Amino acid sequence: MSRLIVVSNRVALPTDGKPQAGGLAVAVRAALKNRPGVWYGWSGRVSDQPDSRPEFLEHGGVQYAVTDLSAADFQEYYSGFANRVLWPILHYRVDLAEFSRLDLSGYLRVNEWFAAQVSDMLQPDDVVWVHDYHMMPLARFLRRRGHQNRMGFFLHIPLPPPEILQALPHHAEVVGALVDFDLVGFQTPNDRDNFARYLQEAGAAGRAGAARFDIGGRRVHLGAFPVGIDAAFMKKAARRGAATRFMRELKASLGDAAMIIGVDRLDYSKGIAGRLDAYEQFLAENARWRGRVSYVQITPKSRSDIPEYMEMDRQVSEKVGHINGAWGDVSWTPIRYINQSYSRTALAAIYRCARVGLVTPLRDGMNLVAKEYVASQDPEDPGVLILSRFAGAVRELREGALVVNPHEIEGVAQAIRQALEMPLEERRARYLRMMRVVESQDIAAWANEFLDALEMSQARRGLVANLRTMFM
Ligand code: F6P
Repeated sequence: MSRLIVVSNRVALPTDGKPQAGGLAVAVRAALKNRPGVWYGWSGRVSDQPDSRPEFLEHGGVQYAVTDLSAADFQEYYSGFANRVLWPILHYRVDLAEFSRLDLSGYLRVNEWFAAQVSDMLQPDDVVWVHDYHMMPLARFLRRRGHQNRMGFFLHIPLPPPEILQALPHHAEVVGALVDFDLVGFQTPNDRDNFARYLQEAGAAGRAGAARFDIGGRRVHLGAFPVGIDAAFMKKAARRGAATRFMRELKASLGDAAMIIGVDRLDYSKGIAGRLDAYEQFLAENARWRGRVSYVQITPKSRSDIPEYMEMDRQVSEKVGHINGAWGDVSWTPIRYINQSYSRTALAAIYRCARVGLVTPLRDGMNLVAKEYVASQDPEDPGVLILSRFAGAVRELREGALVVNPHEIEGVAQAIRQALEMPLEERRARYLRMMRVVESQDIAAWANEFLDALEMSQARRGLVANLRTMFM
């Protein structure tokens, strides 16, 4: 069996001896448990003189290879180009992009450095699977070193239409470099079609809606592979967690109040500020709910040294303070705003206890919180998911969720009331429709589908064997 070399910026190294349990971490670990391979990426450390060779570690049957970054690499590649240029542009926020040639050259330099390290460990029949926008040009650098291996790329975040992508200076060296992969996977058909149009405009041969394009002497396959979750794990953890001390304390602190839950990394793409405005409007319009509802917003911070994130931090904290000051009283706090992160097990139990799951990103590749919220519900007494029409997950969950436009504050406020007052029968019917999808398209199915498709793409030789239905 060929080895699988997984490459991503963050490597989910075990913390305190326990493996991490994020969506990508669970999927990659499962894929690497079933076949030999290595998971390569950034160690999360910044050091004065990063070693030219990665550090190899082994845990729970999985091999890791990690490398440090220098302060300049971290600044230009991670904080600069990846998160102040690519992140906003791929989330349709050209207005927030802060481009500099220095950051672009840092991004390309770090990708070349990653490629050099991967190159040293690569054997001719290894399969390479690269994740996310930090490493779009990686295959190009590996090909330049002569590697003919099968290489796949999966983008976890959205891909906007060419009109937006072309606003990225030197986009051909970054987004355009994806054609050096054999298979490029996206979260939704919409993202895939946007990339197909981008390729067509760059002169690639291939029809709109098609799944393969020929460009620069290479053939690249495109596919949509919506990321799933470990539904069985969330279901079990939610059931078990209900009896823990942690949950007894949370429930006691809520009293009779119904809980609304929001869980998002502190990021402008998540629509947290608008969500707070909607909650305030809901309180203003529904006096009978005052004192009877508690909105818990769990928001771990990352990228805190980036100015747009600092500004958001200030804005959200201010809004929370304002709402609690204006509407709360001595015995009731309308919002509990928490900046720490919780384990998947704890989150599952919290989701199950929440009458409403509030997921209102302005733009999101998929949004796994939406799926995890559904998987954690009590089938006899499920809560209601309010979901933004701009989350990738809406394609699969629209039959059961209350779908909202996060730009319309009144609409979100109204959905909050509707969710809190929804009769049990309707809640059950909606839950069943969503749970069917969440369970059938789980994380293991996602990893297998992507790797099967990659296995079948023999682009280097210009042959395409057994194209599967997803390539239609
Ligand atoms: O899901 C998108 C993503 O950028 C991942 O690639 C990343 O690991 C995660 O969000 C968290 O962001 P960061 O690694 O910048 O803290």
